[in-house]
Amino acid sequence: MSKDLTEITEKLESVKENFSKEISSIRDENELENIRIKFLGRKGELSSYFSLMGKISAEERPIIGKQLNILKKYFQETIDQKKSKLLPKKISDDFFDITMPGVPAKIGTKHPLYQVVDEIKGIFISLGFSVETGPEIETDYYNFEALNIPENHPSRDLQDTFYITDKLVPRAHTSPVQIRTMEKMSPPVRMIAPGKCYRKDTPDATHSPVFHQVEGLCVDIGVTFGDLKGVITAFAKRLFGANVKIRFRPSFFPFTEPSAEYDFSCVMCDGKGCSLCKGTGWLEISGAGMVDPAVFKFVGYDSEKYTGYAFGMGVERIAMLKYQINDIRTFYENDLRFLNQF
Ligand code: DAH
Repeated sequence: MSKDLTEITEKLESVKENFSKEISSIRDENELENIRIKFLGRKGELSSYFSLMGKISAEERPIIGKQLNILKKYFQETIDQKKSKLLPKKISDDFFDITMPGVPAKIGTKHPLYQVVDEIKGIFISLGFSVETGPEIETDYYNFEALNIPENHPSRDLQDTFYITDKLVPRAHTSPVQIRTMEKMSPPVRMIAPGKCYRKDTPDATHSPVFHQVEGLCVDIGVTFGDLKGVITAFAKRLFGANVKIRFRPSFFPFTEPSAEYDFSCVMCDGKGCSLCKGTGWLEISGAGMVDPAVFKFVGYDSEKYTGYAFGMGVERIAMLKYQINDIRTFYENDLRFLNQF
């Protein structure tokens, strides 16, 4: 073996060593490509040896040629192998692929109780009613006194109403908004007031210490009990369909005279009698009546000139009937399996 051949063989050995060392530490495709260019590129390490071929004797040329080809193949295979094991090219941090499908945000829905409030509001607005609000913390005056609820009335009892102080209560009903509305406007008044109410009730399937009511009030010249029946009937039919029937039963409320409780025919059995209506065919909704002249006196309305009707309704009760929910507590648990159904 000539001196040249020995020298070239040794050099090729060290090129191979360098290659192996460098390729063992690469981290990404860019670095791998740099190695390919360095060792296999047109001006790379191996090509300089290939261009030496012309200067080498005819006998030794095939030996070197063979070594070079083996090395070239080895480099190529090692690079290919390495490439297949590399993770995809790292994308720079500020790269933003606008063609990627988006991750849809989870969109919530309105709470079922408030969907029912919206529906009730929609019906009354279409009947010409305005929507009023009042504070949830009320004075004794608005919650009781101006509604003609006397000192010794059971609803004033500590058993029924939460007291913050002697004179402040979380309102026990939405009726105080009647008073506030009449104070700020003169007749004709046609309003509803949806909102939260608070009572000392132990939670069970039909009671909750916080619940929702919608109050209604209409005051004008010549308003009659017939108007009340008409409005409640129109409301019931819009909410539960044209077949629903309405029934008024005599009752008592300090702020209305005469007073009534009103029922809708059972939405589940159409009045035939079932478990929901406990066989009676009727579902109790709430109270109503003609505004007591004593209430008009508190707000300075002339009860000789004006008459009015008022009504209340429980939102939970209506929502439970509408969606056939048998436990009021499901409204407040925020269980997504329940809420997702609305
Ligand atoms: N405020 C009454 C309650 O919470 C409901 C009610 C009854 C409201 C008769 C009225 C009414 O406006 O006229 O039980």
